[in-house]
Amino acid sequence: MNARPRIAVLVSGTGRSLENLVQCIERGELDVEIALVLSNTPSAFALERAARHGLESRVVDHRDFADAQAFGRAVFAEIEARRVDLVVLAGFLRLLPIPDAWLGRVLNIHPALLPKFGGKGYFGERVHRAVIEARERESGCTVHYVTNEYDRGPIVLQRRVPVRDGDDSHTLAERVFEEEKLALPDAIQRHFAGLAGATVERGGARG
Ligand code: GAR
Repeated sequence: MNARPRIAVLVSGTGRSLENLVQCIERGELDVEIALVLSNTPSAFALERAARHGLESRVVDHRDFADAQAFGRAVFAEIEARRVDLVVLAGFLRLLPIPDAWLGRVLNIHPALLPKFGGKGYFGERVHRAVIEARERESGCTVHYVTNEYDRGPIVLQRRVPVRDGDDSHTLAERVFEEEKLALPDAIQRHFAGLAGATVERGGARG
């Protein structure tokens, strides 16, 4: 029997995405092992979730490093110490330089339809506020391979939702997050099945 692929999940905040991945694994919908949860800040609630689920976690605090390159080297040293197959940025909000050897093995989920509403400064709720201010009629989420350009890199999949009259950043964030819960495990499965390519799927029929 083949061992399950091992992933590292990188977090900065509440860890809802991490929780979702754990639940997908427990339900048998995602066939991977979480070998490491890594946070760039000791205050991330995601670390508590990791502890509750008995997952190994590490903090590599970006404030301890002179620049992004040094921070990135320290992050990948932790990852490489654990025979990890794929790195998943799940609400990870720091710029992470990717070593050449890892290009094509780092996924990120972003709460908008990239290339729109991506890049520096676009994270979390700010993204949804910008979408509403721009009077977009739809939004969604994107899972893409991380390159050394912020929020660029080959798209694995997107899921779309409508922006409704009367939406605020919270209601839109919730609708998008429901799609993120499907998109991220799906993209991870596709990566390991060798199917990761650019596809767009519709969502948001609920609610
Ligand atoms: C998700 O909405 C994810 O798309 C977003 O952070 C949230 C997950 O954080 N990521 C970004 O904005 C990356 N630019 P959480 O799991 O800590 O709640």
